[in-house]
Amino acid sequence: MTAQAAQAQQPLLSVQDLKIRIQMDNGEMNAVDGVDFDIQKGKTLGLVGESGCGKSLTSRAIISINPKECETTGSIMYQSSSGESANPLNLLSMDPSGKQIRSIRGRKIAMIFQEPMTAFSPMYTIGNQIMEAILIHRTKNKKEAKKITLEMLSKVGISDQEKRFDQYPHEFSGGMRQRAMISMALSCNPELLIADEPTTALDVTIQPQVLELMKSLQQEFGMAILLVTHDLGIIAEMCDEVAVMYLGKIVEQAPVKEIFHNPKHPYTKGLLKSMPRLGGNKSKRLDSIEGSVPIPINMPPMCGFYDRCKDRIEGVCNVQAVPKTRLSDKHMVRCFLYSDQHEGE
Ligand SMILES: Nc1ncnc2c1ncn2[C@@H]1O[C@H](COP(=O)(O)OP(=O)(O)O)[C@@H](O)[C@H]1O
Ligand code: SF4
Ligand SMILES: [Mg+2]
Repeated sequence: MTAQAAQAQQPLLSVQDLKIRIQMDNGEMNAVDGVDFDIQKGKTLGLVGESGCGKSLTSRAIISINPKECETTGSIMYQSSSGESANPLNLLSMDPSGKQIRSIRGRKIAMIFQEPMTAFSPMYTIGNQIMEAILIHRTKNKKEAKKITLEMLSKVGISDQEKRFDQYPHEFSGGMRQRAMISMALSCNPELLIADEPTTALDVTIQPQVLELMKSLQQEFGMAILLVTHDLGIIAEMCDEVAVMYLGKIVEQAPVKEIFHNPKHPYTKGLLKSMPRLGGNKSKRLDSIEGSVPIPINMPPMCGFYDRCKDRIEGVCNVQAVPKTRLSDKHMVRCFLYSDQHEGE
């Protein structure tokens, strides 16, 4: 195989044994505890789970923007297809404020957040802020940077771009700010877009528009997406593959159809049951998972879902760490109900 062919087969991003520990007054929190996943070029991986499962910490670790107290280990190998480097680079070994990660963050790997206000400074116009990103990463020519900014604003469906260019963030509605943030993220033509709850703060009528927009821009630019959400409806709509996260661990991972038609983990099944049905009886109460996500401080080795699991096996699930089981090439589950085929840790 040629070096180029080998490179083409590499995942764009490969996260291995990612752990994030935070020292708290009352002990050590294992907020992310041995997470592995790959993201393929041009594909969308969904990271789904209830609030507090470690999704944001995981996604922010990729571009080293977690706060200092987050002690992070493992590896995050990134293989750029525009190839400054023939071999994958370990993003985790880079200085979080150094030149190397800054040349990747915002340019090759861009991120959009739930709250677009955090992406923009209230002091400068939207146009200047997007243009600034383009001037740093794409061109030194101001005229060209302005032209690209106006094009990007138009691509995300913002009309009257010349006027909008000169407006401040507070003059935009929430939905428009979200669009503007997407245009800023995509203006540098990233290879990977990390979208952390990109539509959660938006009005439900605008949500599908923003998702459609992300999909069409993905097709146009061929970027991969890591889509972080607690909403399985969005996963069904957008993703190729799904990783279900619970209490700092990926408990099930499979192609999107497999997750919806052949879910295995009791937590995945619970999430699916709690999903609102289209055309369903709105007055019917949703069948939500009882209990809430515990805080993973000084956790003994056991299944984190034990207290909430209807299928738990006492003396098994609460006394040892749960190994991964590979049900097929593409389907992994972490649950003792399937562990006779486990591959060991
Ligand atoms: N800087 C921090 N200090 C202390 N705890 C944190 C910090 N950041 C996140 N956490 C905790 O880590 C866990 C995972 O957080 P997060 O990744 O934000 O979850 P998610 O995005 O899935 O809702 C939560 O219990 C959260 O409270
Ligand atoms: S390992 Fe046991 S407690 Fe955990 S999800 Fe599976 S059956 Fe439930
Ligand atoms: Mg989050």
